[in-house]
Amino acid sequence: MKIAMLGSGFIGRFYTDSIQGYRSKDKVVSVCSRKEENARKFAEKYKVDHYTTDIEESISHPNVEVVCVSLPNNLHEEAVMLCCKHKKPVLVTKPLGRNAEEAFRMLEAVEKAGIFNGYLEDLVYTPKYLKAEESIRNGALGRILWAKSRETHPGPHSDWFWDKSQSGGGCILDLGCHCVEIARGYIGKDIRPLEVMCWADTQVKPIEAEDHAIGLVKYENGAIGQFEVSWTFRGGLDLRDEVMGTEGTVWINGFLRTGMDMFSTGKGSDYVSEKSESNTGWMFPVGDELNELGYNHMFADMFDSLENGKSPSETFYDGYVVNAVLDAALRSAQTRIWEPVDLKVWRGKTGVSKENYQQSYDDQFYLVKEEMTHYGTKKLILKDKKTGKIVEKIVD
Ligand SMILES: NC(=O)c1ccc[n+]([C@@H]2O[C@H](COP(=O)([O-])OP(=O)(O)OC[C@H]3O[C@@H](n4cnc5c(N)ncnc54)[C@H](O)[C@@H]3O)[C@@H](O)[C@H]2O)c1
Repeated sequence: MKIAMLGSGFIGRFYTDSIQGYRSKDKVVSVCSRKEENARKFAEKYKVDHYTTDIEESISHPNVEVVCVSLPNNLHEEAVMLCCKHKKPVLVTKPLGRNAEEAFRMLEAVEKAGIFNGYLEDLVYTPKYLKAEESIRNGALGRILWAKSRETHPGPHSDWFWDKSQSGGGCILDLGCHCVEIARGYIGKDIRPLEVMCWADTQVKPIEAEDHAIGLVKYENGAIGQFEVSWTFRGGLDLRDEVMGTEGTVWINGFLRTGMDMFSTGKGSDYVSEKSESNTGWMFPVGDELNELGYNHMFADMFDSLENGKSPSETFYDGYVVNAVLDAALRSAQTRIWEPVDLKVWRGKTGVSKENYQQSYDDQFYLVKEEMTHYGTKKLILKDKKTGKIVEKIVD
């Protein structure tokens, strides 16, 4: 694939490291940055033939086959509309829009233009996530009841994130978008998110948007998604998931503790890992950030799908659903009540209720619980289907 990279900042560089790494056949052929100097430096480092400060010039460049939007949130829509105009396949980093309205306009535009669209949510492509998700799809955890995802760090690295008019919001939008999509993936992306309850506050930073929030997302099948996000967490980038199902549990520590512990007095040390706050003392480096953060698997899915005329696992529609959930969260933080998730279009299942799932023991009883006691007796707790009475049965 020949790619235009719009944005040469933090994520543009991570993406390009992933796309061009390991003898890859994919190549960034045009880069666009706000300042010519930055575009030139990027072009030199990554051996990119064409650089510019003009978004449309990069998109319409004849060598460009696919556009990767790594621009601040307020420029996503403009870039997507230009991709529609020039009929170029487009991949957009998270969050798709600053709100669901923007995201929906982008969704409608790419579908009307008939162009390939991918939503670059890397955290549903990490090796640990892919393994957990596969086990869940194979039934290892049974029906998913609760999926919690946490992303907290000491705050973003560029000015525009902190300015609500450009970014669209605080940590709910910036980090909650990851957590919501992660929980959707575990619960099932075909299960409709119904309503959201959220607490948010600006606890530390002198900004208009929230810097800390916790939210609950209720799904139609009774499952609950939970997100915990903060721009005020000290100690690095904390990415953790906890998933509970009727048959099992999975806990993932995605980044801060990946199994590598290192101590240094600080002599000769430099970059440790994303948002790491220290390069002395005990540290938790990440061996291969591009892979651990899902970028490699994500671009493989995007480009394989594009080449084979398929949709990738993450599309603009997913980005739109995420924005709609987060809009409800922001409303709930204001109103302090459960707020409905307002989806103009729902493409998953409907009418999936938790009542479908009662487990029968036999014709007379439902099974409540089975336990082997420490004194060697197996006990069954049963509920009579007709009378509703709870009884205990000893099985020798
Ligand atoms: N894990 C992830 O998926 C992840 C991580 C970080 C950021 N992001 C997303 O990536 C996007 C960019 O974030 P970032 O961290 O790379 O920001 P950044 O500030 O590091 O980089 C932004 C880039 O956009 C360019 N730019 C800004 N205005 C421009 C204009 N008018 N014309 C052309 N170029 C312009 C800048 O020159 C810079 O190269 C955001 O949407 C952010 O949410 C995603």
